[in-house]
Amino acid sequence: MKRIDVAVFTVAVALVVVLALPLSAHAQDGAALYKSKCAMCHGPDGAKAAGHDLSGAAVQKLSDADLAAVITNGKPPKMPPYKSLKPEEVTGLVAYIRTLKK
Ligand code: HEC
Repeated sequence: MKRIDVAVFTVAVALVVVLALPLSAHAQDGAALYKSKCAMCHGPDGAKAAGHDLSGAAVQKLSDADLAAVITNGKPPKMPPYKSLKPEEVTGLVAYIRTLKK
């Protein structure tokens, strides 16, 4: 009985780690990219660009696809396009923006 409990526990922990890793990896890549490419305008917490607070409801209500489109295509006149980012980098940035939510 004890041995089965340990086995079940081990499998459960392994599953959680396997499922959670890709998510946190995205958010981490996103964090590094955000710091190097976005924070100078949007601020470390996303709230620096007046009226375009990335942590605020107006931005957080946008879909992941909308956020990805803004990052890739920019938003004239002041938000520059980032067309050279790989799709997984854009996904990472979107994941990071989600972590900024107030
Ligand atoms: C040169 C300054 C600058 C940089 C660098 C920059 N942004 Fe922006 N960003 C802006 C401005 C200004 C706006 C508002 C655009 C507008 O509507 O006029 C904006 C808008 C946005 C929006 C939409 C917000 C809204 O209210 O519609 C998102 C999402 C966003 N930026 C994400 C990013 C990400 C992610 C990066 C890094 C890859 C980044 N930005 C880099 C200046 C910048």
